[in-house]
Parts: sequence; C-alpha cells; structure tokens
Amino acid sequence: MPLVPMKQVLDEAVKGDYGVGAYNVNNMEQIQGIMKAASETRSPVILQASRGALKYTNMAYIKYLAAAAVEDNPDIPIVLHLDHGNSLETCKEAIALGFTSVMIDGSLKEDSKTPTNFEENVRVTKEVVDYAHKLGVTVEGELGTLGGIEDGVGSGTVMLTDPDEAARFVKLTGVDALALAIGTSHGAYKFKAKPTLAMDIINEVQKRIPGFPLVMHGSSSVPVELIEVINNYGGKMEKTMGVPMESIKEAIKRGIRKINVDTDGRLAMTGAVRKYLSEHPDAFDPRSYFGAAREAVYEIVKGKMIDFGTAGHAGDYKPMTLEEMKSVYK
Ligand code: G3H
Ligand code: 13P
Ligand code: ZN
Repeated sequence: MPLVPMKQVLDEAVKGDYGVGAYNVNNMEQIQGIMKAASETRSPVILQASRGALKYTNMAYIKYLAAAAVEDNPDIPIVLHLDHGNSLETCKEAIALGFTSVMIDGSLKEDSKTPTNFEENVRVTKEVVDYAHKLGVTVEGELGTLGGIEDGVGSGTVMLTDPDEAARFVKLTGVDALALAIGTSHGAYKFKAKPTLAMDIINEVQKRIPGFPLVMHGSSSVPVELIEVINNYGGKMEKTMGVPMESIKEAIKRGIRKINVDTDGRLAMTGAVRKYLSEHPDAFDPRSYFGAAREAVYEIVKGKMIDFGTAGHAGDYKPMTLEEMKSVYK
C-alpha cells in the first residue's frame, strides 16, 4: 500500500478510541526501529520529519527511506508527515516530495520563535489547507504555544489553548487535526517534578467540536532509566521529568489522537551508542553501535504503541490513497 493520508489514520483512531504515535525520524536506524515495533504490534504509524530532518537528510533520503518502510511493511498503514512546517513554501516542498500530511505551525512566525496572533495563524493555516486538500494531503494546525526552546521550535513562553478559539480556528481554516497547548514543551527538560497538565482544555475543545482529532506535542516521557544509561556511560544529563505515561493515557481518553514523540527516541539511541562503545572500546564497525541504537528505538516505541492503544489496529481498515482523499475534500 502507498503512504496513507493522516486524516484517515486519525479518523480511525477516533472511531476506535485510541492514540497514534507520531515519531520523529532522521535516519534509517530510527525508521527501522519504529517499523519493527509497528510490524510486531500491528500498529498504524506516523513517521514525521521536521525541517531539521529535511535538511539533515537532504530531502531525497527521507523520501526513499519512507518508501523503503512501505515496501518492507506492506500491511502497515504508514503516514509521512511534516512536523512544524513554518510556511506555505515548506509545506509545498514536503508535499512535492510525497508527504501525505503536513503541519503548518501558524502559532509561531516563520522564524519558529515569535508567537503570532489568531488572525495571522488562521491566514497562513487556511492557505496551506487550500493548497494541500486539493492534493488529498492532510493538514495539522496549532493554536497556543508550547514552552521550551531546546530544539529551536518554540518561543519559550507557554500560551495555553483557548477552547472557544480552537473551535473557531477549526471552522475558519478547515484543518484536519489541531495541536493544543496544554502545558507540555519540547525536549528533555520539561519539568522538575511530576507535572499537572491542563487536561480540561481537551474536554472543553471536544465539547465544542466533538470527535475532532486533537494532537499533543512534547509528549516524551523522558524515562529515568534512559537518562541513567546515558549518565552511567559517560553522559552528563541533569535530573529531569517528562510527561508520565498515565497523563498521556488520560489525554487519549479525553480526545488526543496524535502523540508526538522525538526526545525519547533520541535518548534511547544516545544511551545505546554510549553503552555499546563503552563496553566494546575496540569496536569500530558502525553497524554494531547503530544496530544497538536501532534496537533501543524499537524497544521504546514498542512500549508506546501498546500504551497508546495503537497495537492491533493496523488491519482495521483499507487505507485510502491521496486520489481517494481528494474526493472526500471535494
Ligand atoms: O518539535 C520539534 C522536534 O522535536 C524536531 O526537532 O527540529 O531538532 O529535528 P528538530
Ligand atoms: P518531545 O520533545 O517531547 O519528544 O516532543 C516532540 C514533538 O512534539 C515534535 O513535534
Ligand atoms: Zn512539536
């Protein structure tokens, strides 16, 4: 099956009442680890590439790595999604490359740092929707801003989503999914203690637009075991906390359908490489330590697929093509 439009994957998750992980990818080992987990747990999966990933992979590599994942896993619905697109131009580039879904993060200006106002956000998001839907491509928008600036995406100031504005935003733009700001942030250093997230916002938005697929960014759990592996093998990460899995499960119950995870994959890979090289100081074959990193990604993602409730849903529906999706939008 070809790459699947994200709208179908999320609409099915709404019907089945589960969450789908969107995992950031930049290289072959990450994709292989994620796909091994998806294949073993029979999970639909969203592979997402940031602008940084497009640059790192020089675009063509990400396209063909995703094509390899599809060829290797013909019975798993796979979405290729642009994470935090900052302009219509970037979204167009991703669509031209074969992405079946794009995020336009109109909550921030093109610099991915300065917050916009509601009107500016609506304008750029609607522009992307008008372009993408004609081609059957899904669009995710964002309203409200996350904290954190570690990965270069974010203003550092949290602005929680206003539920009335969220409902208005969806109507005015026609987006297929909406990222909410409920108190999470990107990166490893999210919280110093167990967080209280603004979960009510999810319910309030669901009351206004029932069954609409909602997205949670900054969803890595930053497991203490992963930090320990890094620090036990020469790393120097500070004490930190992520989003506990119980909070993510709670968010899914309330209507979150797409859960963005990047940091946990990074931590798993870094720990595995550090451990391998430390235990095998004579090693110099990259396949040995990158192989260990790939296995670590598989382990962490497999657990999430089970916890998010994605496991077992790969065969629930016949995936649609972008052509078929075009007629849905008409
Ligand atoms: O939200 C951003 C993601 O964590 C991607 O980070 O831009 O460093 O690839 P990146
Ligand atoms: P984490 O940094 O928590 O993994 O979040 C990633 C993300 O939201 C990508 O868009
Ligand atoms: Zn994000």
